[in-house]
Amino acid sequence: MASSLRASPQGLKTVDQARIRKSWDRQSPAWADAAKASVATLKRFWQKKYIQAQFFIDICAAVGLDWQEIVDSLESEDWGEAPEVSAFYGRTEELSKLQQWIIKDRCRVVELQGMGGIGKTALAVRSVEQIKDEFEYFIWRSLRHAPSVSDTIASLLFFFHQEQDNQASLSRLVDCLRKHRCLVVLDDLDVILDSAAEGYEGYRELIKRLGEERDLPSCLVLTSQQKPKEIVLLEGDKLPVRSLLLSGLGAAADKILSEANLIYEPKQGQELIQMYRGNPLALKIVSKTIKDLFGGNVAEFLRYNTIVLGDIFTEILDLQFQRLSELEQKVMYVLTICQQPIALEQLRENISSTVSTSEIIEALDSLSRRSLIETTREQSKVLYTLQPVVMKYVRRAYSQGL
Ligand SMILES: Nc1ncnc2c1ncn2[C@@H]1O[C@H](COP(=O)(O)OP(=O)(O)OP(=O)(O)O)[C@@H](O)[C@H]1O
Ligand SMILES: [Mg+2]
Repeated sequence: MASSLRASPQGLKTVDQARIRKSWDRQSPAWADAAKASVATLKRFWQKKYIQAQFFIDICAAVGLDWQEIVDSLESEDWGEAPEVSAFYGRTEELSKLQQWIIKDRCRVVELQGMGGIGKTALAVRSVEQIKDEFEYFIWRSLRHAPSVSDTIASLLFFFHQEQDNQASLSRLVDCLRKHRCLVVLDDLDVILDSAAEGYEGYRELIKRLGEERDLPSCLVLTSQQKPKEIVLLEGDKLPVRSLLLSGLGAAADKILSEANLIYEPKQGQELIQMYRGNPLALKIVSKTIKDLFGGNVAEFLRYNTIVLGDIFTEILDLQFQRLSELEQKVMYVLTICQQPIALEQLRENISSTVSTSEIIEALDSLSRRSLIETTREQSKVLYTLQPVVMKYVRRAYSQGL
């Protein structure tokens, strides 16, 4: 038997009838006394939250019921392919923002967005650990291997012990998510946005349905390098669909360097962190290189004034780059050639005259939504550039005859 138990919705109805026969309120101290539990525990019992197994059994016994008929036998959580996140630094603001959005504001769809390796998946794991007890059920599914939407829906319905019946399956899922307060995470949505117009339609519909559904007690959390159009259309600060753009780890990134036992003065650490814009994956990779090739000495590494990408990071950027349109790739190339931040006019001059300014602006917008370009201001002008890691990647990709 599990160490903690909770009631099923049907079970609670049975308990309700039994307590009426006893003339007890739902939070009657007499009932709590009889079960040797506190009134607070009795309250949690009614909220369908987990309580210690012995209290659960005694609360049922006190109204003459067998706990086995009351208990919820569905597994309450399924972590799927979620990774184990052992070391996690910083992100306190992001965690409290997610808590606010999902628990207090009752958002229905929340997207975590940011470039590869910035920590979307890790943040989702930590956030779920903090908030999942507020939900009846929690399910994590990775879309890394581009499952069809019907497979994903089937696997979610399977969790609820529901069979899939072709066309009605999305409606059945929405039904389950309406009846139960569930937290569902779909990790790596990019793969779907990218892979197939066909498959994507189904996921589009899923996001849209959940985003528009009224009074839905459940929440869908998505992680993605780029923002899906559905989110752009439905999101808002006061609306139940929101997205959180992740930037680097900031000062907390220093922990990654110290964890790798690197030798450095604070200033050198900051320089390294800034070079990789606090991207935890990039910093983990470069830390390993510094350890292996420079005896852990950051100053030695910085002397070479170079940027290390590493295979994993290159693969991530490869994927991200391949998903860009021809024009977006061209913009990236021009920004790489220019090296310095440039204004729209300058960008315009370096791109074929058959391309309109509005198309270039759209490309810039799309690149910025993918966290690939950085903007700075000089007087009243906005200037565009790439962050160093991305610039290094593009230069290398073109020199290898992309
Ligand atoms: N706050 C953090 N503290 C320490 N390590 C972190 C943190 N966030 C992420 N990491 C580590 O950085 C690496 C990349 O993180 P993660 O996989 O979450 O990135 P991602 O944004 O989901 O990338 P992708 O777009 O490729 O899915 C992982 O090894 C992860 O453990
Ligand atoms: Mg991820």
